Amino acid sequence: MKIGMLGAGSVALSVARHAIEQGHEVLLSNRSGTSKLADALLELGPRASVVTFAEAAAAPVAELARGARVVKAFNNIIMTNFNAGPVRDQARRVLFVSGDDSDAKAFVTEFINKMGFRTIDLGGLKEGGKMQQAGGPLGGHDF
Ligand SMILES: NC(=O)c1ccc[n+]([C@@H]2O[C@H](COP(=O)([O-])OP(=O)(O)OC[C@H]3O[C@@H](n4cnc5c(N)ncnc54)[C@H](OP(=O)(O)O)[C@@H]3O)[C@@H](O)[C@H]2O)c1
Repeated sequence: MKIGMLGAGSVALSVARHAIEQGHEVLLSNRSGTSKLADALLELGPRASVVTFAEAAAAPVAELARGARVVKAFNNIIMTNFNAGPVRDQARRVLFVSGDDSDAKAFVTEFINKMGFRTIDLGGLKEGGKMQQAGGPLGGHDF
């Protein structure tokens, strides 16, 4: 699948590495363009490219228009912990998943599980999303 990334900072590049390992193609977008991402592109290889914000938003998993199927994940974990890998002290690190569309949530859940992490479904986007974001009870913890 082509995965569009709105932003190409710590989070997007960390997730991009795992997505490419799984055979996906990643479309990165940022404010400042390709030059800032030269090193990242070299590391990620030919399955990564830099596109405009609009082109990244047009990728199949990132519909911003009405009817978009939004899933919130990767939100509680600090990238330092995410980049340390899916296993800590012989246990699997947990990522939380929130969303209102069961098919979209199932896709993201499988995507994360294939990276080696484990998921916990927090239910819908509104309530579950608040629990995992910064300032919420699960935000920033390394479970
Ligand atoms: N870092 C973490 O551990 C962590 C963990 C969980 C959640 N989060 C959340 O995830 C989000 C991203 O965090 P991050 O650490 O990856 O941030 P970051 O390293 O600062 O990266 C932000 C990216 O977004 C791009 N960007 C910002 N405004 C833009 C605009 N108007 N149009 C196009 N591109 C734009 C930036 O482009 P330029 O570089 O060209 O300016 C940059 O590539 C934040 O909301 C953060 O709160 C972060």
